[in-house]
Amino acid sequence: MTSEALAGAKEHIETARANAAKIDDIAADTALKPIRQVGVLGAGTMGGGIAMNFLTAGIPVTIVEAEQANLDKGVATIRKNYENSVKRGKMTRDEVEAAMARLTPSLEFADLGRADLVIEAVYENMDLKKDIFAKLDKTAKPGAILASNTSYLNVDEIAAQTARPEAVLGMHFFSPANIMKLLEVVRGAKTGDAELATVMDLAPRIGKVAVVSGVCPGFIGNRMLSQRQQQAQAMLMEGAAYNEIDDVLLEFGFPMGPFQMGDLAGNDVGWHRDPTRVETIRDALCAAGRLGQKAGKGWYDYDENRQRTPSDVTRKIVADFAAKAGKPQRAIGKDEIRERLLYPMINEGAKILDEGMAQRPGDIDTVWLNGYGWPAWTGGPMYWASHEGLDKVVAGLERYGLEVSPYLRRKAEAGQGFD
Ligand SMILES: NC(=O)c1ccc[n+]([C@@H]2O[C@H](COP(=O)([O-])OP(=O)(O)OC[C@H]3O[C@@H](n4cnc5c(N)ncnc54)[C@H](O)[C@@H]3O)[C@@H](O)[C@H]2O)c1
Repeated sequence: MTSEALAGAKEHIETARANAAKIDDIAADTALKPIRQVGVLGAGTMGGGIAMNFLTAGIPVTIVEAEQANLDKGVATIRKNYENSVKRGKMTRDEVEAAMARLTPSLEFADLGRADLVIEAVYENMDLKKDIFAKLDKTAKPGAILASNTSYLNVDEIAAQTARPEAVLGMHFFSPANIMKLLEVVRGAKTGDAELATVMDLAPRIGKVAVVSGVCPGFIGNRMLSQRQQQAQAMLMEGAAYNEIDDVLLEFGFPMGPFQMGDLAGNDVGWHRDPTRVETIRDALCAAGRLGQKAGKGWYDYDENRQRTPSDVTRKIVADFAAKAGKPQRAIGKDEIRERLLYPMINEGAKILDEGMAQRPGDIDTVWLNGYGWPAWTGGPMYWASHEGLDKVVAGLERYGLEVSPYLRRKAEAGQGFD
């Protein structure tokens, strides 16, 4: 990037963030719905964090669980998180008690009937979510907004379970939901203007930066992330060391690489939990108890200060898998690693724009800057790629035999950036 482009990154980020709040095809004077009561379904990792956003902002929340033990655990975690805020001097004890007093824990689905906005955060399972939205359709009060926190599932399919698809949208929070700034607001084919505008208006009140996404697998952020993950896994099988792949991203300015991220989140998230069934490297890590930081070992070994050291056990697991797959091994340089991690993300971003899943390139930058630790000095992925030169990105993708979106190619051939 030129020094001029670098100097413009800060202004770009501010403009992009302000623009992300705007919905292009909805009248600015669209009447908003009052949100005085929120219902959250599921008090797990996400539900608890989501509830905290509203409690802290002074909005009462009813949190509904299927099981007493999970409800108690969820409420205790909310309290513990607030207590930590007191220890860190971020909240007073009175503020914590006031926030906790706004919380109503319940095992009764019918208690969601009071809410102006219900956010579903149960397990990522389509049948379960469909069931729940069919029930919500009967329980929620007329005019209520019905949101799903799904990470990947089709919001239109969920909405079709109700007789009021205009009420349904996605509110995709990021973990930890009480801390992470990003909120992807997923606009279904039938989502109403008032519902969408209300949620976009609500976001800053609960401390979030909201970006509108269309309905597509993984929405904006996870859809691009899976491209990066695919290449990280491919390079691993071709002979790159996992710690080298992480280090390349750290050098670029990310707070962590894909394998560190796996260890932080837990390699057992979504694992089938059968240690005798070893079909992937991840299965082998989990079967060996290498679940991540929480186990003291995952891809890396961790010491008591959570410092990571590359592990010979992991190296052997990877080498065995590569040998079994008959993959020839070679040394992969840092430039190739960086380009193969980042360029396919830009390509996916181009497809997202071409399909109208994001309103503007700056929205994609806002997603990656606020939800995934993309280094701010570069202005975000689309700004960075535009200033690197889209022709360079296209040439890189071709060099590695990777797909080039026609939209990206057209922009590159015209000598344009994304904006
Ligand atoms: N964990 C993440 O990093 C993350 C990030 C973004 C989105 N999400 C999405 O959020 C959703 C929840 O994920 P999570 O990580 O919080 O899961 P989790 O397993 O921690 O919590 C799910 C909770 O839902 C409860 N539940 C299940 N069925 C229920 C029902 N019928 N009624 C009421 N409660 C019920 C469970 O008892 C459990 O406590 C998923 O759709 C997931 O894809 C997760």
